[in-house]
Amino acid sequence: MANILITGASSGVGAELARRLATRGDSLFLSGRSEDKLKNLGLNASIFAGDLTSPGAAEKLVASAISELGSLDVVIHCAGIGLIKPAADTTDAEFTHVMNVNTRAAFLLARESCKAMAAAKKGLFITIPGILGKAPMRNASAYVASKYALTGMIKCFAQEYQRSGLRFCLFHLGGIDTPFWDQIQMAVQRDKMIPVATAADLILQAIDAPPHLVLSEVVMQPESHQLV
Ligand SMILES: NC(=O)c1ccc[n+]([C@@H]2O[C@H](COP(=O)([O-])OP(=O)(O)OC[C@H]3O[C@@H](n4cnc5c(N)ncnc54)[C@H](OP(=O)(O)O)[C@@H]3O)[C@@H](O)[C@H]2O)c1
Repeated sequence: MANILITGASSGVGAELARRLATRGDSLFLSGRSEDKLKNLGLNASIFAGDLTSPGAAEKLVASAISELGSLDVVIHCAGIGLIKPAADTTDAEFTHVMNVNTRAAFLLARESCKAMAAAKKGLFITIPGILGKAPMRNASAYVASKYALTGMIKCFAQEYQRSGLRFCLFHLGGIDTPFWDQIQMAVQRDKMIPVATAADLILQAIDAPPHLVLSEVVMQPESHQLV
C-alpha cells in the first residue's frame, strides 16, 4: 500500500488512476481545479481543489498531502491543458498560459515533491508529456513547447536526484480518449485513441515495478501513428 498524490485527478487519466488505485487500498490525495468533480468521484480520499499555477499552490499541495498521508511514495502529475492551433493564430496570452500550466506548474510540483521524497530517500514521480513531449505536430507549437520542456526538465531532475532513491517516469502516450479533447477544435477519431483504462494500466505498471527498477520512458501510440 502506497501514499499517492495525483494531480489532474478530477478528469481523464488522473480520475481513472484514482478510481483504480482506490480499489487497491492505496492512500490517495487527489487534486484538481474543480472541487465538485473531485467530490463526485466518490472515493475514500483526501481532496485539494485549486489552480496549480497560483502562487504557493504547489508548496501548499505537497505540504498538505504529506501532512494528511504522513509521507509521499508516489506523485502522479496529470494536470495539464491542451492547445491545438496554428502558430500564426496562437496569441501571446495563449502561449504563456499553456507554458504556465503544463511547464511552470509541473516544475513547481516536481521541485516541492522531489525535495520531500528525497529527504525520505525514496519516491516515484510520474508524468505524461505525451507523444508531443518528444515528437512535433503541426498546429501544436505552443503545446509541444510546453511538453518538450516538461520532458527535458524531468530528465534534469532525474540527473540531479541520481542515487537518491527517487525514480522518474515519462509517459509519451498518443491521443487518449478523455475530456481533454472536448475543448479542442480538431477532427479526431476518438474510437481510435488509447482507451483511458489502457493508459491507466500502463501507469500502474510503473507504480508496481520493483523498487530498484524504473519504467523510465514509455511510448504508446495508435497503430496509425507508430514510430513518429
Ligand atoms: N488526452 C490525451 O490525448 C493526452 C495525450 C498525451 C498526454 N496527455 C496529457 O495527459 C495529462 C492528462 O490529460 P487528460 O487527458 O486526463 O486531460 P483532462 O481529462 O482534460 O484532465 C486534465 C486535468 O488537469 C487539471 N488541470 C488543468 N489545469 C489545471 C490547473 N491550472 N491547475 C490544476 N489542475 C489543472 C484538470 O482539472 P479540472 O478538471 O478540475 O479543471 C483535470 O483534472 C495532461 O497533462 C495532458 O497534457 C493527454
